[in-house]
Amino acid sequence: MTFPETRLRRLRTTPALRRLVAETRLHPAELVLPLFVREGVSEPLPLGSMPGILQHSIDSLRRTAAEAAEAGVGGVMLFGVPEVRDATGSASCRTDGILNVATEAVAAEVGDAIVVQTDLCLDEFTDHGHCGVLDASGAVDNDATLVIYREMALAQARAGSQVLGLSGMMDGQVAAVRDALDGEGFHDTVIMAYSAKYASAFYGPFREAVDSQLTGDRRSYQLDPGNRREGLREAITDIEEGADIVMVKPAMSYLDVLADVAAASDVPVWAYQVSGEYSMIEAAAAHGWIDRNRAIEESLVGIKRAGADAILTYWATEVAGWLK
Ligand code: PBG
Repeated sequence: MTFPETRLRRLRTTPALRRLVAETRLHPAELVLPLFVREGVSEPLPLGSMPGILQHSIDSLRRTAAEAAEAGVGGVMLFGVPEVRDATGSASCRTDGILNVATEAVAAEVGDAIVVQTDLCLDEFTDHGHCGVLDASGAVDNDATLVIYREMALAQARAGSQVLGLSGMMDGQVAAVRDALDGEGFHDTVIMAYSAKYASAFYGPFREAVDSQLTGDRRSYQLDPGNRREGLREAITDIEEGADIVMVKPAMSYLDVLADVAAASDVPVWAYQVSGEYSMIEAAAAHGWIDRNRAIEESLVGIKRAGADAILTYWATEVAGWLK
């Protein structure tokens, strides 16, 4: 019988020692809270597919953003749910469009206490639910969509968004939006590119959250879940076009892509723990099948360990509270 000379358990002996040698730590400032705001409601509405998450009124949105700031959360990411949609998503570019109105309200409420960010994509605003406009054949028209993204970017920047989250997966969107922003003097408006965004079933609950009108799928513009090299290529292309931050989305099923992008990137790399990831943990916890808070923390630590500098998560404020 020989006994081990190398004893890896030594560093795990006490909670204090484990804390001292921990390789990965969460911090509230690197969490971003996604928020939904619905036009024409005076009270927030609950979402059946995302227990605990609301479609906000402007008032409850302001309060919730202020609470996140109070908890030390790094940013909020706003999504609009308009009352009326059309083929070109025109409400996205109008000053009185719900997302732009809400952005102004939140920016006025929180000032510099938290970074105000907006989703820059047409899917919430189009009556067909696609992330871009359609050509005569019904296909998503990349270049015609870029023209609208430029207008949308300017509307969001004027409303007070500091970080634009480009989530439409059109080719050339980062360069097009950067050019539009710089042309109007918005040199300091940050572009966060959803670079490696996969065509994922885990966005399911989000479709209810934004009342999505989509009937088909997004496979002609979002990435094929099996493609790892292509995810990295998307991120590198966005960095070359001028992205200030790149993102991988969803998070948990794409940690290899996240690690690849983190290794190659010279800009911050974020990850989005999406609606389906949220709802899976909440549903399992509601059944008593997993320890909710431990599962949430472990999921976030795993995403950070894989290489995320910041994480969009629907639990941002709650987790920030635990970390205080
Ligand atoms: C597109 C967008 C989506 C999400 C964020 N931005 C939906 C999609 O691409 O289908 C999903 C977020 C989530 O599931 O939490 N505007």
